[in-house]
Amino acid sequence: MASGALVIAILALAFAEAFAGDPKPLQDFCVADLKSPVFVNGLVCKDPKLAMPEDFFFSGLDKPGNTNNRVGSNVTLVNAAMLPGLNTLGVSIARIDYAPYGLNPPHTHPRATEILTVIEGSLYVGFVTSNPNKFFAKTLHKGDVFVFPQGLIHFQFNVGDINAVAMSGFNSQNPGVITIADAVFGSKPPISDDVLMKAFQVGKEIIEELKAQFK
Ligand SMILES: *[C@@H]1O[C@H](CO)[C@@H](O)[C@H](O)[C@H]1NC(C)=O
Repeated sequence: MASGALVIAILALAFAEAFAGDPKPLQDFCVADLKSPVFVNGLVCKDPKLAMPEDFFFSGLDKPGNTNNRVGSNVTLVNAAMLPGLNTLGVSIARIDYAPYGLNPPHTHPRATEILTVIEGSLYVGFVTSNPNKFFAKTLHKGDVFVFPQGLIHFQFNVGDINAVAMSGFNSQNPGVITIADAVFGSKPPISDDVLMKAFQVGKEIIEELKAQFK
């Protein structure tokens, strides 16, 4: 019986690890040495004796990103590369700006759950679960909060004729982003037409047209 309990405890621990975000730190902080040529899981620490208040600081999230692009949105992400003191701490933050009817297009964060709050304007937001692909969506207004579970495809669309602003927190120092359309139709080198024709069940012309949008 004791060994049964041990197995359950080990399984519980394994699942806790599997569903957690970034690994736990082994010291108070590990300010990233962004110039180190060494590759590790995360970023190399600089000597903690040399850490300064500036290492834990970033300024500028009051400034809107430029939304004058084809989707009408702009994400200003403050990850460990932008704020070296975040290294090993398992969190990051972003400001997202949306032009009227601007879209933060369908994308996923492979390493983080995202919690978003609307600062200005109204957003239609949603995510899709892993197969069998249930869609969850909601219209958010100023002060509303929504969560996008780790790894799931999600988007935000400004449904107003004024600019919108949101702030998001992530449980990773480096959430990563895969923008679906860009990844599938704009990869370098490109995925072959044969693969995409079969996957999307359409002809070559449609695939070529889609690829042309992401050159
Ligand atoms: C986002 O805004 C910044 C700051 O204005 C700008 O440098 C950057 O090019 C913009 N990114 C996109 C994708 O438009």
